[in-house]
Amino acid sequence: MSFKEISPYSLPDNPFKMIGKDWMLLTAEFDGKVNTMTASWGGVGILWNKPVAFIFVRPTRHTYKFIENSDYMSISILPEKYRKELNLCGTVSGRDVDKIKECGFSVSREENAPYFEEADTVFICKKHYGQMLNAESFVDAGFDEKMYADKNYHKVYIVEIEKILKK
Ligand SMILES: Cc1cc2nc3c(=O)[nH]c(=O)nc-3n(C[C@H](O)[C@H](O)[C@H](O)COP(=O)(O)O)c2cc1C
Repeated sequence: MSFKEISPYSLPDNPFKMIGKDWMLLTAEFDGKVNTMTASWGGVGILWNKPVAFIFVRPTRHTYKFIENSDYMSISILPEKYRKELNLCGTVSGRDVDKIKECGFSVSREENAPYFEEADTVFICKKHYGQMLNAESFVDAGFDEKMYADKNYHKVYIVEIEKILKK
């Protein structure tokens, strides 16, 4: 089945389920290579009068370098039958394994953002903003300690959703 472009206002999916339960694959290209990782923390909404997504990536991830060095990235949501592959992309690093090859995913591109043909929903995203989370900005130091005992803070990226592709 092929993709067709839809408006963010016509997205039929529940974003809480899509992000928190189905999970996302965050994918970017850098230096002629593509890397992807599973993510389940983030959101979608409106900011600066634009449809946006916000994603949270730890600098320790291999994918971090790819997102840092690219103006575009994609968010792919895959059907349930790819749960094994989503688990692999969320537990193994692209430093050690060519995860895309291992999963047998087919890479397509839009605006220099690589994405997967196996997805049923794809957000093509342009990076606008990135900021490290930090201890000082937590209102409740106890919550910070609970969530980041190891101080391995995420970087939040706010990306504009330029295109949504849906099967
Ligand atoms: C369900 C699930 C959700 C995850 N969500 C995130 C996330 O939102 N942010 C993050 O930095 N890592 C998240 N991870 C961890 C990365 O996917 C994992 O460390 C991955 O191996 C990184 O691959 P890379 O080193 O090739 O980038 C998640 C893992 C799983 C299994």
